Amino acid sequence: MKNSRGGKIAVGYGGGCRSVGLPLVFLLCLFFFLAGFFASTLFYQPDEWSVQSQLRPRVLAAMGEERSSFDPLPHGLSGDNSLTSIPFQVLSWKPRALYFPNFATVEQCQSIINMAKSGLKPSSLALRPGETEESTKGIRTSSGMFISASEDKSGTLALIEEKIAKVTMIPRNHGEEFNVLRYEIGQRYQSHYDAFNPTEYGPQKSQRVASFLLYLSDVEEGGETMFPLENGMNTDASNDYRNCFGLKVKPRRGDGLLFYSLFPNGTIDLASLHGSCPVIRGEKWVATKWIRDQEQGNLFFDSQNRKD
Ligand SMILES: *[C@@H]1O[C@H](CO)[C@@H](O)[C@H](O)[C@H]1NC(C)=O
Repeated sequence: MKNSRGGKIAVGYGGGCRSVGLPLVFLLCLFFFLAGFFASTLFYQPDEWSVQSQLRPRVLAAMGEERSSFDPLPHGLSGDNSLTSIPFQVLSWKPRALYFPNFATVEQCQSIINMAKSGLKPSSLALRPGETEESTKGIRTSSGMFISASEDKSGTLALIEEKIAKVTMIPRNHGEEFNVLRYEIGQRYQSHYDAFNPTEYGPQKSQRVASFLLYLSDVEEGGETMFPLENGMNTDASNDYRNCFGLKVKPRRGDGLLFYSLFPNGTIDLASLHGSCPVIRGEKWVATKWIRDQEQGNLFFDSQNRKD
């Protein structure tokens, strides 16, 4: 009886077990599934955070402390109130090169291309003594045109110029006119310096300090801006500078590239040698602003110095 009762109880329990078994197992399954699911998201998130935490210290280190906002300081008579956020990446120290993502809008780029389209002519070179157009054929095969901000009634070029002046802290009137260039398939510009070495070009009234390239289009393939001597590499004289190597910057519409041709002491930085790799697919449009160490009266209309 005891046994059978015990058995009965056991059976009763067992039977109870069986009768609630399925929902219970289901609930347990659901519980472990959900627990596992949330645990996995917990494990996943720290991964994402660790990526951020790798980036954040650099930002923090650069800022000194984290600031969500900044109240503008009382500014000097020649300053202004506006806070500007213009992100940039240091591409290289040799030469000193910065990259500015989204420096101009798609609309601004398109309007500059439209302005330039009708005035394109084959690009020319500043010739060294003894060079002729024939002897330098093939070095630079793009088409281009010069346009000054004052010729652009829409004000786009003035805005871009203003922004370039801010990131370089070199006043607008040190800039030459914009040189807008188009490279079609196969077109390129062999490596060269933007600065004029007086031993090759004779004494200079002013020198190009820096160059700002605003990419007006994406290029499907090729068309990179290259710095073959970046960080002192490839200085082996056997390298053919018509080839495409070294630090290569792929054009992206709206992005800007700034590099300095001169050291702070005014001598030419040999690592600023650069060129345009041939376009393989697509078309490359770029607006170049050369920035000089002297104010630009009508100096840049001096055709001898109007080397594109
Ligand atoms: C100018 O600066 C560069 C880079 O710091 C240096 O290598 C060079 O010797 C300097 N030239 C003169 C003439 O001081």
